[in-house]
Amino acid sequence: MNVATADDMRALGRALGGALRTASEGALVIGIEGELGAGKTTLVQGVLAGLGVTGAIRSPTYTLIEPYDAAGLQLYHIDLYRLSSSRDVEALGIRDLLDARAVLLIEWPSRGAGALPTEDLSISIEYQGSGAQHRLLRAQAHSSAGDKLLEQILAATSE
Ligand SMILES: Nc1ncnc2c1ncn2[C@@H]1O[C@H](COP(=O)(O)OP(=O)(O)OP(=O)(O)O)[C@@H](O)[C@H]1O
Ligand SMILES: [Mg+2]
Repeated sequence: MNVATADDMRALGRALGGALRTASEGALVIGIEGELGAGKTTLVQGVLAGLGVTGAIRSPTYTLIEPYDAAGLQLYHIDLYRLSSSRDVEALGIRDLLDARAVLLIEWPSRGAGALPTEDLSISIEYQGSGAQHRLLRAQAHSSAGDKLLEQILAATSE
């Protein structure tokens, strides 16, 4: 998908947030790859807004995990950028978060290769073209829950 501006990225995030509202029971793991400043946190801001989280949304660059309670879900915004080994990621205890109503939004999942639960949806964001704001977003589902999310995002964004 082409994403022309940061506002469009937030809108896409809100569409994902809307899809999460209607997702069936079961933990969902969403990985978000992309270079520094690509827009991963901006996307998550949209997701949280779409789920009714108000107020400041901090990047978990230092806290590593920021939890939110919204729309009956337990959301965990996770940023693995500062971790260098799968062992560090293992020590975070991410698997222990996988409650039935848990949604994990993980920036830099590549840092946790082998130590993370399987992703239902993998998102990658790339810089695109010469325009400073243009991004290319790719999303790939790896489970039926991920398929449903993807379908709903596509439906919401083609309206
Ligand atoms: N199309 C776009 N999508 C998302 N962000 C954009 C876009 N165009 C410009 N931006 C800007 O780029 C910046 C993206 O920062 P953001 O913190 O979301 O990146 P990030 O991928 O989370 O980086 P990091 O790896 O450091 O966590 C923001 O300042 C945002 O306003
Ligand atoms: Mg970020």
